[in-house]
Amino acid sequence: MSNVIGKSVNRYEGQAKVTGSATYSAEHQISGLVYGALITATIAKGRIKTLDLQQAQASPGVLYIATAENMPQLTPAANDWFSSHIYEPRYPLADAEIHYGGQIIGLVVADTPERARHAATLVQVEYESETPVINPKNASFITAPRTPGLEQGNTATALATAEYQIEATYTTAMELHAMMEPHAIIAHWQENQLTIYEHTQWVMLHQKTYATLFDLSLDQVRVISLYTGGAFGAKVFPWPHSILCTAVAREIQRPLKVVLPRQQVTTIAGNRSATEQHLKIGATSDGQLVAIEHHAKSYTSPVNPTWAENCIGVTPVMYTAENLSLKQEIAILNMGMPTYMRAPGETPGMFALESAMDELAWKLGLDPVKFRLKNATTLHQRTKLPFSAKHFAECLQLGAEQFGWKDRPQHPRSLTREGKWVGWGMAAATFPGWRAMASATVRLFPDGTALVLTSANDMGTGAYTMITISAAETLNLPVENIQIEIGDSRLPNGGIAGGSMMTATLAPAVVNACQELLKQVNAKTATEALQVLRGSGQPFLEATGSSQPGMEGQKWAFQSWGAHFCEVEVDEPLGRVQITRWVSVMNIGRVLNAKAAASQVRGAVIMGIGDGLMEECQLDPHLGLPVVYDLATYHIPVHADIPRIQVSFVGEPDLNFNSVGARGCGEIGITGVSAAIANAIYHATGKRLRDLPLTPDKLLST
Ligand code: MOS
Repeated sequence: MSNVIGKSVNRYEGQAKVTGSATYSAEHQISGLVYGALITATIAKGRIKTLDLQQAQASPGVLYIATAENMPQLTPAANDWFSSHIYEPRYPLADAEIHYGGQIIGLVVADTPERARHAATLVQVEYESETPVINPKNASFITAPRTPGLEQGNTATALATAEYQIEATYTTAMELHAMMEPHAIIAHWQENQLTIYEHTQWVMLHQKTYATLFDLSLDQVRVISLYTGGAFGAKVFPWPHSILCTAVAREIQRPLKVVLPRQQVTTIAGNRSATEQHLKIGATSDGQLVAIEHHAKSYTSPVNPTWAENCIGVTPVMYTAENLSLKQEIAILNMGMPTYMRAPGETPGMFALESAMDELAWKLGLDPVKFRLKNATTLHQRTKLPFSAKHFAECLQLGAEQFGWKDRPQHPRSLTREGKWVGWGMAAATFPGWRAMASATVRLFPDGTALVLTSANDMGTGAYTMITISAAETLNLPVENIQIEIGDSRLPNGGIAGGSMMTATLAPAVVNACQELLKQVNAKTATEALQVLRGSGQPFLEATGSSQPGMEGQKWAFQSWGAHFCEVEVDEPLGRVQITRWVSVMNIGRVLNAKAAASQVRGAVIMGIGDGLMEECQLDPHLGLPVVYDLATYHIPVHADIPRIQVSFVGEPDLNFNSVGARGCGEIGITGVSAAIANAIYHATGKRLRDLPLTPDKLLST
């Protein structure tokens, strides 16, 4: 009975975005606005000895300079997922210590952004410098305290006695979120009322966090986040520059704006840690897995000493093996804080696991698709719960069919085209199904339009449109009749856009609100409700609905699935890889918007191609500062790097998960992409590349 769900619906906010009328954080016009520029450390470890502000203070237009000397005290954040959460647990300007290159050591406020930036360059800093730990080879590793390992059976013995086994080390590079919109905030105090204009993936927790830090009640803090120009995990919580901006705005009693230059986005607003993963997999001669050992290492910052890029989470989800040994270790480097980045852990984890599966398939002489089908698990190997509405096999089968996989030559270096080696590769994709609590209010007006109100945010993912569709479907109204107001903490709690959760979290709440509204007047559709409304003389009908997880997680494991197939052309003398064909099949429960879901997967595959072929943020071994500093030096894919990407969906609504049956699809598309590319390069050339990104130098030296 779906009228709208599952169809292709254009972006609700598309016109606002392409015409430039969409207001991003830095674009709010506030009268009396002043501008902040950060002063950042040029050493990676040590402390500030002296800070000479004289020249900066005398510079034209300078109004205020914040340093550790005059930084006001703030209330500690709980750093939980309910009451308050900040990225970097150390407060900005907490003391004179330097923990990483680029760390904030001050803020200059002036009447124009140019004057603030100029004055910041005039600050003279004398450091007492220590030798930083930048090279992972000099780091000492500990077991990651918050990332559970797993020991099941006797992996060492099983591996030693397995008929076939492979052992390999895979590495992945430090990466940047590289979203289009740089981090930006305007903090506006009016007496004790605080308005924050800042992109966030979680409006309500943002509000609670600022309330905690500045000792305010919730009704004293308003967070406005109408549009977010990409986030990928780096815009969930406040960063130190946001906290500093808000604190200084209170000191000077002026609305204050801080926009990070791209160079500062690369150093102080998150990254994905590099990883090193050791894989051992053992199988019987007919291709049954008997053991997997997956030991991973990642790096973190002194300011957040427990963070891990959890590479091993995917391993007990993907395949059955009686013997499992999973371990995650971390080491502290003097670098800016790593954090969540699109499929955090799953992305590097699936590169290693799906490369290793390919290596073993070749060794066994098995088709890698059949090898995966044979070993796919119906139970989560950690919790032993059955997966709900799992259609991994169909992803593999449909992908193979669409790609023409059965025609695959059985040997590496067997296909050429115009002097280039051609190879075919595939890999699996996976991401957990999560959801949280959300509420929405819906109003129906006599003119037949409806307004949905919720604090949710849209970081480019399609949340506006998903809300439109959920309401249009339930009320049986055209999508054009639905208006949306989101991105404001004064609206009902719209939940989090993280962990691919927003659709699964919010769509059921919007549906419930609409159903509640119809129920109020005993109507089945908006048309019936409108008759009652028009007869009543009321200005509108209104209802609020909520949704949250129940006990279903104790019965089921919720996970999304997928498969990628690709073709590469390798110009061997130049070491150049061009991707020429891509097929992705995903199983994400119900698809609410066919167009947006396919776009999400396409975007994620493109990001995965960046992960596979080019993205890398190296740190200067002495200064600890990134050697890349903008979107020109940090290589991400351009149009010429991307083939047509064919995306399909399989499976039925996952109604064990929520009432609309949607599991979300923000992150799954990136997982497995780099492995599919590496596997295709092996098929093309016979060269097994295990170190991301797969740049020409690596092909030339293998
Ligand atoms: Mo995501 S890495 O949960 O924004």
